[in-house]
Amino acid sequence: MSPPTHHFDFVVIGSGIAGLSFALKVASRFRVAIVTKRWAAESNTNYAQGGIAAVTGADDSVELHVRDTLSAGAGLCREAVVRQILKEGPARVAELIELGMRFTEEEEESPDGERHFDLGREGGHSRRRILHAKDATGREIERALLATVAAQPNIRVFEEHFAIDFITTRKLGQTGPNRCAGVYVLDKATGRVETFASRAILLATGGCGKVYLYTTNPDVATGDGVAMAYRAGARVANMEFVQFHPTCLYHPKAKSFLVTEAVRGEGGVLRSVEGTEFMEQHHPLKSLAPRDVVARAIDSEMKRTGAAHVLLDITHKPARFIIDRFPNIYQTCLKFGLDITKEPIPVVPAAHYQCGGVMATVDGETDIAGLLAVGEVSCTGLHGANRLASNSLLEGLVCAHLAAEKIIAAPPEFCDLAMPDWQLGKAQNADELVVVSHNWDEIRRTMWDYVGIVRTTKRLERAQKRIANLQEEIQQYYWDFVVTSDLLELRNIATVAELIVASALQRPESRGLHHNLDFSKPDQSWAQRDTILTRVA
Ligand code: FAD
Ligand code: SIN
Repeated sequence: MSPPTHHFDFVVIGSGIAGLSFALKVASRFRVAIVTKRWAAESNTNYAQGGIAAVTGADDSVELHVRDTLSAGAGLCREAVVRQILKEGPARVAELIELGMRFTEEEEESPDGERHFDLGREGGHSRRRILHAKDATGREIERALLATVAAQPNIRVFEEHFAIDFITTRKLGQTGPNRCAGVYVLDKATGRVETFASRAILLATGGCGKVYLYTTNPDVATGDGVAMAYRAGARVANMEFVQFHPTCLYHPKAKSFLVTEAVRGEGGVLRSVEGTEFMEQHHPLKSLAPRDVVARAIDSEMKRTGAAHVLLDITHKPARFIIDRFPNIYQTCLKFGLDITKEPIPVVPAAHYQCGGVMATVDGETDIAGLLAVGEVSCTGLHGANRLASNSLLEGLVCAHLAAEKIIAAPPEFCDLAMPDWQLGKAQNADELVVVSHNWDEIRRTMWDYVGIVRTTKRLERAQKRIANLQEEIQQYYWDFVVTSDLLELRNIATVAELIVASALQRPESRGLHHNLDFSKPDQSWAQRDTILTRVA
């Protein structure tokens, strides 16, 4: 029996802030499938701590937010894009609140008798402007959005469904502009590959932190969307700009636990293991400098002392304040035997955010008709060479709205081409799963060792060779064996690693998050130049 073909007006891949926001908007008029590879809440969004940056404070303005974003972006942001997204921010945040999102409010009423939101501060922001739900903002966003999705009869959520590859007119042998007609999806429960046909597909698969050995990201962040779009022929840009978050908890038993920048926003100070504050040698904003500067400073401090971590100290603040403002971090650290009201927190940088991605307009259009990309998977020009903290949830929210508005106004027709079932060929069950896991480890370690916070051309070339060898092995596996989610993720991670390294080698300068010791300064001729990769067909 052949696997089912599903027909929906729109297919959304991913159930983070970008995918869910878009699905809710278009579901007012259309039938929508949300395909997501684990349970619905599992996403980078779900782990967001600091919050959403949007102008709501009386002392703030969109112009100031624009200035901070451009300054963090180190000359590579698209100013018009920045202005449009940040201007739209407050209205979209207000809509999220109407849907049921509960941001933390100030404890006391203001003199005008109103209760305002408690605004957090993070690195690179000149004002307090981060709306948050204590230190677990993402969990509250997912709760609010998923509750609304559950009440929407036009949306069906396919959990444990893994999107593999797009079905495009080019792949079907048609000439003319490339158009996306559908997507092949692995149902992880049955092991069958199903076909989803739609008017258009929204790619909202998030980032690729898992390409590095140490990351703040959950296991789902394997860069699938970038790899799929690249294979389908879309341009991918600026992948060398991987943001390392400066403060991930260092503990042998803690997997990927972030300690929000808001801790530094509330006065937390970075110290070496010897107890010395070191950020003042690196930036006038000290511990609240932009993230690329702080991550590099920690990296150099760890190399100088030979220690495996540095310390983040907030013990000078009252214990009651710390427990109330950061309950998630307080409780999690306590489980590891660390009382953050009494002891400094051991922290290390870890891969956190993909600033590049599938080239897209603010309303999600990519090079392929019928394929939209929104959120961390996309590269719109908002973040440039270094994302300003808490601008990414905002980008997902705003761009999902703009994409939905545009497609509702002019919905494309279904593609009337026959779509072949997924070809299993002579595939057999993979009995050498250990090889898959070894390849995973090797890629992640290579990326960590050779393509990390500080790079050199020699190390990048070494990484390129290793990844090319692994790619060859993986391709052979891919065609020989039945597809599993582990194998699919391995193939995607290898592609994304290749793209990061190739982009890094293309940029002969240091800018923002890309720091190459062989070209230690920014080169003016590279300002405003994206590194763009397209697959040679
Ligand atoms: P995600 O939220 O990552 O969602 C991607 C979805 O796609 C997931 O549901 C995933 O399962 C699914 N998916 C992926 N591949 C496939 C596939 N092949 N098939 C089917 N489904 C697939 N940003 C801020 O602005 N403020 C913060 O405070 C903040 N804190 C953060 C803290 C942490 C620990 C992390 C990891 C990130 C943080 N970020 C923060 C970044 C921000 O959370 C993300 O950039 C943002 O949530 C991305 O949203 P998204 O909708 O694009 O993708
Ligand atoms: C944090 O809370 O430190 C993360 C914020 C972000 O990545 O934008």
